[in-house]
Amino acid sequence: MIWETENIKLLLQDAIIGMSEMLDNSFDLCIADPPYGASTKANWQYDSQKKLNGFGGNWKLTSEVWDLLSQNELFESTFVWLKEVKRLVKPTGSIWIHSTYHNSGFVNVCCQLLGLEIINEVAWYKRNAFPNLSARRLTASHETILWVHTGGEKRDYIFNYDAVKKAKFEGDNLKEQDKQLRTVWDIPNNKTKDELTFGTHPTQKPLRVSDRLLMISGLENGKLLVPFAGSGTEMIAGLKYGMQVVGFETNTEYFELAKTRIEHFLVSQKQTLFQ
Ligand SMILES: C[S@@+](CC[C@H](N)C(=O)[O-])C[C@H]1O[C@@H](n2cnc3c(N)ncnc32)[C@H](O)[C@@H]1O
Repeated sequence: MIWETENIKLLLQDAIIGMSEMLDNSFDLCIADPPYGASTKANWQYDSQKKLNGFGGNWKLTSEVWDLLSQNELFESTFVWLKEVKRLVKPTGSIWIHSTYHNSGFVNVCCQLLGLEIINEVAWYKRNAFPNLSARRLTASHETILWVHTGGEKRDYIFNYDAVKKAKFEGDNLKEQDKQLRTVWDIPNNKTKDELTFGTHPTQKPLRVSDRLLMISGLENGKLLVPFAGSGTEMIAGLKYGMQVVGFETNTEYFELAKTRIEHFLVSQKQTLFQ
């Protein structure tokens, strides 16, 4: 199934298959938030009735079928989708990949095997992270985001340096206005009410993370690829920046959620224009 309108294409399809049918160098940017392989089948006896605002419901462990991958599956699939992304993103473009310790090693090794140069490794510090349920580990409060490019030694990937240096991000205690952005980003993980209006996705990212990726390496009127659309967060950030967006999602429920969120975004954007 394909939903297509204006500058948007959302496909209910496996990204690996869909991407293999696309032409080389057809995108200016890719933001990939793939399965981390972090889900668990464990059945914790934990009182999760306490609600936290902005997290879309009660605390729970992530246990999603699409995320229950063996180590071999995780390595193989990472290699295959990254290879396709490398082929599709122009040498002037960037690829951003979200990960945690569950898959960040694989992502890093696959980038190196594929000749994708790592520009930066960002630590996204989530100061409002969930507490650790087992009391046997430290509370995980960061994720890794790799910024890589396909352009070889020329390194002519887009970097909107001045805009980023100038920026002051609301709620980020580490970035000062008119100072260079560092590789530790202080971005709270809760979502705004608007981001949760149409339903929730178990691993939904707050828009403010993708907004930042767009500010760094977005290209107005360029084309953004989102291989793992989920609830559509990265696609909305791309549209906000003025890019065309193409996304893939295999789960019907999330496909519908992303479509509804994007439709709502388009309506609110038009309302703002006519005000
Ligand atoms: C980590 S989530 C993305 C969440 C997204 N960043 C958001 O804010 O909503 C990964 C998504 O990829 C989907 N998915 C998993 N494997 C896929 C594949 N091979 N092709 C397309 N989508 C896939 C899952 O159903 C899931 O919704």
